[in-house]
Amino acid sequence: KTNTVAKTLGGKLYFGSATDNPELTDTAYVATLSDNTLFGQITPGNSMKWDATEPSQGTFTFAAGDVIAALAKNNGQLLRGHNCVWYNQLASWVTAGNFNATALTSILQTHCSTVVSHYAGQVYSWDVVNEPFNDDGTVRAFVFSNALGLAYVTTALVAARAADPKAKLYINDYNIDSAGAKATAMINLVTSLKAAGTPIDGVGIQGHLIVGEVPSKAALVANYEAFTALGVEIAITELDIRMTLPETPALLAQQQTDYQTVISACKAVAGCVGVTIWDYTDKYSWIPGVFSGQGAALPWDDNLVRKPAYDGIIAGF
Ligand code: XIL
Repeated sequence: KTNTVAKTLGGKLYFGSATDNPELTDTAYVATLSDNTLFGQITPGNSMKWDATEPSQGTFTFAAGDVIAALAKNNGQLLRGHNCVWYNQLASWVTAGNFNATALTSILQTHCSTVVSHYAGQVYSWDVVNEPFNDDGTVRAFVFSNALGLAYVTTALVAARAADPKAKLYINDYNIDSAGAKATAMINLVTSLKAAGTPIDGVGIQGHLIVGEVPSKAALVANYEAFTALGVEIAITELDIRMTLPETPALLAQQQTDYQTVISACKAVAGCVGVTIWDYTDKYSWIPGVFSGQGAALPWDDNLVRKPAYDGIIAGF
């Protein structure tokens, strides 16, 4: 099988989708997901996160993540690992344990090293660190940053590099699509990591956006290039563009334009290697469960039928 869309559209490495284990009993859903003329890459939406992979200290469970890795392999799709360390979906034994800084460093090394080595050779890129910043650019407070400051980022990246020297190592965040305090914080972090010789290969721009509020292509391109100028690649890692429900023809048309804007901005930047949508169908989107009254954020509807947004993606590439 060949990744027709992924390899031809815009010359990018991939176009892909997140997926999640519970959805894989839906055969119609899996058939489209597995069509690698559409999707050249997949990301596990939950099953490689800390609470899923190390639910109690030193006990690693890879069964669910392995299902997604095997699906990618069987389909001839690239795999993105997601993620080693994040303030959310972190196992409660870590937060509740009252560990000191030395113990937390060791816990983080063990976790990243074990998870990344388990998938070594199977992963194109890892979101090693997820969501390190608040929207104002300050460091997000959680157990690792509280004890270690941003040194936890270095610890995680070094452990990941040793565990899988071929995987591209990313830091991933949202609201860094265009210039602003949070994008600046990410630029400063990557700059300091590079200066220190810490392994860092990419910045993941999640891209959880809102219909009608997507930055202009020029603003996206300028910011993407501010990242790639640091000597890292970028990817759009979790694209969805939500609206206040109900869907209307006008909102769907604006969403088509918005998808095209983001895709064409990635296409315009040499160092933007690919785009992943955060699942492909509204049937399994995380948006309605988290953003009350919002949804319809993906290019396929609840019945797995393509929406205007799909045409926007194709036009953007
Ligand atoms: C979401 C998943 O899609 C949901 O199923 C889960 O309940 C919560 O997490 N940013 C990220 C992703 O980096 O891991 C999140 O995924 C969405 C926001």
